[in-house]
Amino acid sequence: MSQATSPATARVTMPDGRTVELPVLPGTMGPPVLDVRKLYGATGVFTYDPGYTSTASCESKITYIDGDQGILLHRGYRIEELAERCSYLEVCYLLLNGELPTREQLAKFVHDITYHTMVHEQISYLFRGFRRDSHPMAVMIGVIGALSAFYYEDLDVDDPHARMVVTHRLIAKVPTIAAMAYKYSIGQPFVYPRNDLDYASNFLHMMFAVPCEPYRINTVMARALDKIFILHADHEQNASTSTVRLVGSTGASPYAAIAAGIAALWGPAHGGANEAVLGMLKQIGSVSNIKSFLEKVKDKDAHMRLMGFGHRVYKNYDPRAAVLKKSAEEVLAELGHKNNPLLEIAKELEKIALEDEYFVKRKLFPNVDFYSGIILEAMGIPTRMFTAIFALARTVGWIAQWNEMIQDPQQKIGRPRQLYTGQTERPFVPIEARG
Ligand code: CMC
Repeated sequence: MSQATSPATARVTMPDGRTVELPVLPGTMGPPVLDVRKLYGATGVFTYDPGYTSTASCESKITYIDGDQGILLHRGYRIEELAERCSYLEVCYLLLNGELPTREQLAKFVHDITYHTMVHEQISYLFRGFRRDSHPMAVMIGVIGALSAFYYEDLDVDDPHARMVVTHRLIAKVPTIAAMAYKYSIGQPFVYPRNDLDYASNFLHMMFAVPCEPYRINTVMARALDKIFILHADHEQNASTSTVRLVGSTGASPYAAIAAGIAALWGPAHGGANEAVLGMLKQIGSVSNIKSFLEKVKDKDAHMRLMGFGHRVYKNYDPRAAVLKKSAEEVLAELGHKNNPLLEIAKELEKIALEDEYFVKRKLFPNVDFYSGIILEAMGIPTRMFTAIFALARTVGWIAQWNEMIQDPQQKIGRPRQLYTGQTERPFVPIEARG
């Protein structure tokens, strides 16, 4: 049906012989896109792509993934290098502004974030409406959505200053709210943020400090957590980011859009996988059970997946997983968790899966969620907080993408079409005539 006529256009010929020339738009890297915007007007035909496997929903300059090579770039910089050489807030600045900050720019940005970390005192009362055993993601969806009721002056999304304030508020307050969700779940008092601490240390402080004794920050843990934040900061047009863009495209409150992103992230096929991986490793229990577990995964009737494996875009090793695997070894050794049984199972599971024809044929490799939970658990972070930590770190990506969308003159309200296969029009049947 479609054939390239020049590097810049493709001709689509319909079954009835009508043709339409469609532009092929190049990016700076990656596959070009066939611009189908005038297809419906010219031919009366929509495109069909459930799961958006072949659809570019927007133009973006923030993040690039080469899934075949296993490369992830933020604003052109390799994720491995950013994880090694930057702080999380430096990466946040890069994602938001397009360039790495100078010392002065970074100092101002850190100050702007640090001095927005407190939440309105009334927010602490919102938590009391939740059961203590609520999942932290459920609490975060509710409380972050509720920020729209507290910071209503940010709601003019066309005002750049308002957008900047909302950006700072979200990056600053999401850790406070995540830590509050944890404290609430264990019945401990909320811990206020400390402005003398860096971003990751402050989060550890709000998670683990108690009023009756001083809390000492473990710098190994803080640096490892900061690296985990960097590795989760953005990942182009994934399900949660696309959700944030879609909600934001209606002009809705950015706090509500981020709450929707958190909801999308929660699913086990997306960010919820990090929690599921830990459950899976514990269920496997010992290296000797790996082979039988993998047999079940390969059996289609068992409806099981190897959690932390596979990715829509990566058909090679996820570079974030490679950094986390190395980091897991280092952090566990530094924290004195030598021969951690879960890490041993994970490494052996990876080794066996990567040699197994099922996984080789489908190009299934470890993804970001495979090793992150092992590090978080070694830090004493409960499994139910794993996806909340992913959400915390991804907030900058969501808000950077939201800002880009609002400023994009091409962007319209997100409104997909459908292939309708239901009933054609028919006469109404009165209730007495039904059955
Ligand atoms: N274990 C076993 N088989 C798998 C897995 C897996 N983890 N992932 C994909 N497959 C198989 C799948 O059964 C299918 O096989 P077949 O062709 O025989 O039907 C084939 O591989 C292609 O799978 P798909 O479901 O069409 O691929 P997708 O691109 O729609 O799904 C995915 C991507 C991430 C949802 C999927 O790989 C998965 O469910 N992985 C496990 C959950 C997980 O780790 N998610 C985290 C993703 S990375 C971080 C994030 O996004 O938050």
